[in-house]
Amino acid sequence: MKAADDVRPRKPGESAHSRAAMGIRPATKMQHHSKPTSHFYFIFILLLLIFTPRVDSSWWYIGALGARVICDNIPGLVNKQRQLCQRHPDLMQSIGEGAKEWIKECQHQFRHHRWNCSTLDRDHTVFGRVILRSSREAAFVYAISSAGVVYAITRACSQGDLKICNCDGHKRGRDSDDRGSFDWGGCSDNINYGIKFAKAFVDAREKMVKDARALMNLHNNRCGRMAVKRFMKLECKCHGVSGSCSLRTCWLAMSDFRRTGDYLRKKYNTAMEVTMNQDGTGFTVADKDFKGSTKNDLVYVENSPDYCLMDRAAGSLGTAGRVCNKSSRGMDGCEVMCCGRGYDTMRVKRVTKCECKFRWCCAVECKDCEDVVDVHTCKSHKRPDWLDVT
Ligand SMILES: *[C@@H]1O[C@H](CO)[C@@H](O)[C@H](O)[C@H]1NC(C)=O
Ligand SMILES: *[C@@H]1O[C@H](CO)[C@@H](O)[C@H](O)[C@H]1NC(C)=O
Repeated sequence: MKAADDVRPRKPGESAHSRAAMGIRPATKMQHHSKPTSHFYFIFILLLLIFTPRVDSSWWYIGALGARVICDNIPGLVNKQRQLCQRHPDLMQSIGEGAKEWIKECQHQFRHHRWNCSTLDRDHTVFGRVILRSSREAAFVYAISSAGVVYAITRACSQGDLKICNCDGHKRGRDSDDRGSFDWGGCSDNINYGIKFAKAFVDAREKMVKDARALMNLHNNRCGRMAVKRFMKLECKCHGVSGSCSLRTCWLAMSDFRRTGDYLRKKYNTAMEVTMNQDGTGFTVADKDFKGSTKNDLVYVENSPDYCLMDRAAGSLGTAGRVCNKSSRGMDGCEVMCCGRGYDTMRVKRVTKCECKFRWCCAVECKDCEDVVDVHTCKSHKRPDWLDVT
């Protein structure tokens, strides 16, 4: 089991097909053992194959485990992560709860896209094989997941849920902003602790191998962490004679996670294709005309598939059955969403609240109104005739 920790979850450039063939590799080794022991060796390998957790699993799975965070049982933690898990079970609890939130945010951001950030039930990889490819989508998932850890831990610190951290103790005394001076008070979110822990925990896996994918992940993880910090805001309470606000007490607070989601989604749209430097220390932007820094940009190494059709090897679910918008020219439009395969239209009755009246005091009464709407869903791929046996 332990050895599996150290296996890289994925290799860039390795095709999905060669991954699928991975299980065959140990069997090839067997040919060097043609002694009688080879029988036992075979069984041993077989057991190892059955009980070795899938190597491409990740800490993301903590979210699915809920309250049962038992560090030894989470597949896909590397040793450093396992140690942090054992030392800080309460932090893992927060990371797990946070995972549900950032996954929801990812699904919100991509609800109109062919790839919609869907997760697979009871699958250690959480997102399936899609993320094995070093694509734009993988860049987004790494960024938002590491942002999610920062957010969850920082919030838990402020709520006093954790032994190791608290509100930011550096925010004391007097200070000033463009509206004048104020006193620090209340509980400032300890974003720097959140960032520090997220970096140690999330980046641990990428520190094990130096390849393009590890560099890509580290870069996007950092973008995600910084995205949360970007939206810290000053919140204040007014004091003074009859609310004159001559005295203010202020604290630094994180904005809603939606802000981070929206920001990273924009960064997804403008993500940069890169290749690794010769010496393996950094990136070169693929676009030769690009001058500047990729510091705040998401980066990716491989082009995305079109996600049109179901492709198990690539982890694509395809868009058959997805709801599309007939009048939209965007990603959610039927042309784009259905990849030109066409769509089915269904008339459905919809019940909505209507004619709402305010009744003194204090209730709102509505009627149930029915209307009929057309719902369009993408057709599935028509199998070519020659595939129809019988
Ligand atoms: C995402 O799309 C798949 C089909 O491509 C669909 O089964 C699933 O319900 C969608 N998930 C969300 C969260 O919209
Ligand atoms: C469909 O797209 C149009 C144009 O973008 C938009 O105005 C409308 O609200 C969309 N309808 C739904 C149901 O999302």
